[in-house]
Amino acid sequence: MKQETGTKRIIIAIDGPAASGKSTTARRVAERLGYIYIDTGAMYRSVTLKALQQGVLDGLRHSPEGVSSLLHDISICFDGDRVLLDGSDVTAQIRENRVSREVSFISSLKPVRDRLRDMQRELGRQRGVVMDGRDIGTVVFPDAELKIFLVADARERAKRRYVELLAKSPDGAGLPDLDLLEEEITRRDQDDAHREHAPLRKHAEAHEIDTSDLTIERQVDMVCKLAQEKEAKVR
Ligand code: CDP
Repeated sequence: MKQETGTKRIIIAIDGPAASGKSTTARRVAERLGYIYIDTGAMYRSVTLKALQQGVLDGLRHSPEGVSSLLHDISICFDGDRVLLDGSDVTAQIRENRVSREVSFISSLKPVRDRLRDMQRELGRQRGVVMDGRDIGTVVFPDAELKIFLVADARERAKRRYVELLAKSPDGAGLPDLDLLEEEITRRDQDDAHREHAPLRKHAEAHEIDTSDLTIERQVDMVCKLAQEKEAKVR
């Protein structure tokens, strides 16, 4: 199902709450269509990791304007599946729970949002991208030809996150239990949906897909079918 000659490449925006299946779906859709996948959550996670590494996170809670110096010369790049922060591979570190717990705070800061939004627009300039996040269809690319909003039951999402964390730590050492994970995910959804700048919300034109009872394969098929219909229209 690779790109046919003469087909116009579109922008596919996939938004939704934590662990709703965005990144797995987006990555596979991109593979099938021959598009580039951009994980914007990884960018917010990278800024959060940098704040933790520099020990400035608590200070930022009192003086959020200090975040500008953190952003001053930051470099976030994608190399295939790897994420590079200021030249170092941080792919594994940005998924740690200490980052997940703080990322909503960092993402709520306007200078962070403005900076990453500009980087994301630049990355999507050539089109032919699948970008996932919280505000891609509403703020970053409101003109994206295809907008998807993925949702799933909170318990189901906590289970998925648990399996993901378990795969990285097979002996289960230091793993939060399911109830705690569900609580953290729900709190992050609340924070993301109620923040002042670019809150998580569904664009009026977005196709909502509930993934609670869907297989990944089925989700990917649904999004690819919609994408091909859109591509045909902009041909
Ligand atoms: O993978 P998961 O769904 O847990 O989250 P993620 O996509 O890696 O995003 C982590 C956090 O970054 C979210 O909870 C948001 O606070 C923030 N984020 C955002 O504000 N805007 C985006 N476009 C993407 C992520």
